Amino acid sequence: MTTFQQIFNTEPQVQASAPGRVNLLGEHTDYNDGFVLPTAIPQQTTVYLGLSPDEQHHIYSQELDKQISLLPTDDAPEDFASYIVGCIRVLEQQGTAVPPLNIYVTSAVPMGSGLSSSAALEVAVLRGLRSLLSLDLDDVRIAQLGQQAERQYAGVQCGIMDQMASSLADAEHLLFLDTRTLERALLPLPEGAEIVVMDSGIPRTLAGSGYNQRRAECEEAAQELGVKALRDVTDLDAIAPLAEPLQQRARHVITENGRVLQAKQGVSAQKFGELMNASHASLRDDYEVSVEGLDQLVDILQASPGVFGARLTGAGFGGACVALVKAGEGVAIAKSALERYRQTGHQGSVLVP
Ligand code: GLA
Repeated sequence: MTTFQQIFNTEPQVQASAPGRVNLLGEHTDYNDGFVLPTAIPQQTTVYLGLSPDEQHHIYSQELDKQISLLPTDDAPEDFASYIVGCIRVLEQQGTAVPPLNIYVTSAVPMGSGLSSSAALEVAVLRGLRSLLSLDLDDVRIAQLGQQAERQYAGVQCGIMDQMASSLADAEHLLFLDTRTLERALLPLPEGAEIVVMDSGIPRTLAGSGYNQRRAECEEAAQELGVKALRDVTDLDAIAPLAEPLQQRARHVITENGRVLQAKQGVSAQKFGELMNASHASLRDDYEVSVEGLDQLVDILQASPGVFGARLTGAGFGGACVALVKAGEGVAIAKSALERYRQTGHQGSVLVP
């Protein structure tokens, strides 16, 4: 593996890491001011930072084996570096002077699977800059700046879940988050359970456009119902006047918020699994963000002995699935599910454990 030292001929001054996340319940609720329940995955992104010897930022990605150099005043680039330059720019917008830097990035978070590799990168970069420049930023502020970078420089109108999970969650707990108030709590996993994450191998091609469309539909539904956000509706009778597809989108958000609040009470693994299965059905039928491969993988997992529940995770349209399974059985369950999934003609892979 090429090191910072080999690329930049000097030692880094600081290093910082942040994990990807997998969401257990509460999908497409964060931009409706709702509730989410993600956890960190073991895979992390790590950045190494030092001062640049010249006027330019020099940014190197180990996984892409790619380096770019740009002046602090240049337009933000379009590829992986957009997230990094985005983080620098949002700090500058709040009045922080950022000197030209050498930046080296390496990541074990799978890219393009819906496990928030971009949030992991943003949080790692911001943590690195906090430590290099002794910035007074708490972990919530880091998440907010990361979200701002993603919205302004990567063009995704995302909610706050991914950056909050990367900044505040750990792999041993679930992070309950109220995305309106940012009230949060670290909760234990249901007793006797562990998490399996599998990639369907289906590229998330429609994720960008489909995501922004769903978001717009939710805003329209909220406006027609006269509420600030769909979070403010809990009674399913209230959405009866909405035309389709707004009614079904709203139904997903309302029932999904309910499932998170139920899980937050501390339910058995069995019950938690049922909530995950119901979440998948709602995402598939009401929210329409599943695709055939995801449904097949989820069906296989749900039918496997030792699985409490399974669903697609993240924005959908492809990418990963998450399952809650009997503690100690994750490796075997994932292996056999993958064999059966491959018989359907898909590739797929096991990401956790
Ligand atoms: C993406 C977004 C999140 C969230 C999920 C769907 O991961 O970045 O803010 O909206 O989709 O739950």
